[in-house]
Amino acid sequence: MKLARPNVGHPRIVFAGCQALIEGDGDDAGLVAALRARGLHARWLAWDDPATERADLVILRATWDYTERLDEFLAWTRRVPNLLNAPDVVAWNSDKSYMADLAEAGVPIVPSRFFAPGQPVRIPSGEVVVKPAVGAGSVGAQRFVSAAAARAHAGELQSAGRTVLVQPYDPRIEVGETALVFLAGEQSHAFTKGPLLPPPGASAAMDESGTYAEESLQPADPDFELWDIGYLALRAAAERLGISTADFLYARVDVIGGRDDPHVLELELVEPSLGWRQLDDEARGLAQRMFALGVESALDRRGLGPLAHRGPQS
Ligand SMILES: Nc1ncnc2c1ncn2[C@@H]1O[C@H](COP(=O)(O)OP(=O)(O)O)[C@@H](O)[C@H]1O
Ligand SMILES: [Mg+2]
Repeated sequence: MKLARPNVGHPRIVFAGCQALIEGDGDDAGLVAALRARGLHARWLAWDDPATERADLVILRATWDYTERLDEFLAWTRRVPNLLNAPDVVAWNSDKSYMADLAEAGVPIVPSRFFAPGQPVRIPSGEVVVKPAVGAGSVGAQRFVSAAAARAHAGELQSAGRTVLVQPYDPRIEVGETALVFLAGEQSHAFTKGPLLPPPGASAAMDESGTYAEESLQPADPDFELWDIGYLALRAAAERLGISTADFLYARVDVIGGRDDPHVLELELVEPSLGWRQLDDEARGLAQRMFALGVESALDRRGLGPLAHRGPQS
């Protein structure tokens, strides 16, 4: 019998990176093998390689240049036959305005004000951070003590057509932020990231490819109060998007502060680093297996999985 869909059971899976770093920074190096252990074949391509559009499933991982080409990127997310996380999730999450939705849903976030191009920018007193609403890798983010200097940076971003996000500088970042990693909506592992922004007036040291600020990461075992905040953020996002938290193959919630007063700095659903390298071999193996199981169930839900060909028709 000729199969109507030859790829059923053998889906072509692509991990999407960018031209500058097709396979990312190496953190995801174990993922191809983790999928292979479940009988799934995956390979890496830059997101703007047309071959991505012939894949059965594309998983965003290292698409770090999308912030400069957002319209093109969002159009591509809708052309790809199946994308994780899903295109609606990416569209919502690629603009930090989603923080306002989280706040509305009762998630404690770092206080955030948004100013579209043309809108007068109000700078609160004290040290502030000014950053583009569409941004990643700390590009365009700066600390200021001078309100005039903050307003000037905001004005530059606005002149380039970008909405600006202004937050009070939270000094608790000095001990780092906690990145909580969720796989298929469930708590997986965590790590801390050292402070990224240099003192007012200076700019961050970038990596060689120029796509992200250099980071210093450490393994972490956060208090449950932090995980609770992570779950709260994830549920708020899922509700807003009309999906289930299990539909997020991966999610990272970045939190500033400890158990007494944690605030969400970011919820990352597009292409967060998952910090696999911060895990020991055994924990990494287990976590990447969870990732692979998440991919498998996403395939099954789309009728592309290893179980799909066992239906009554075959
Ligand atoms: N309000 C803030 N207070 C203290 N540090 C901040 C603040 N906002 C950003 N930072 C620092 O800047 C980095 C980049 O900002 P972030 O909001 O995470 O944007 P992205 O990672 O998308 O570039 C953070 O990891 C943190 O080190
Ligand atoms: Mg960040």
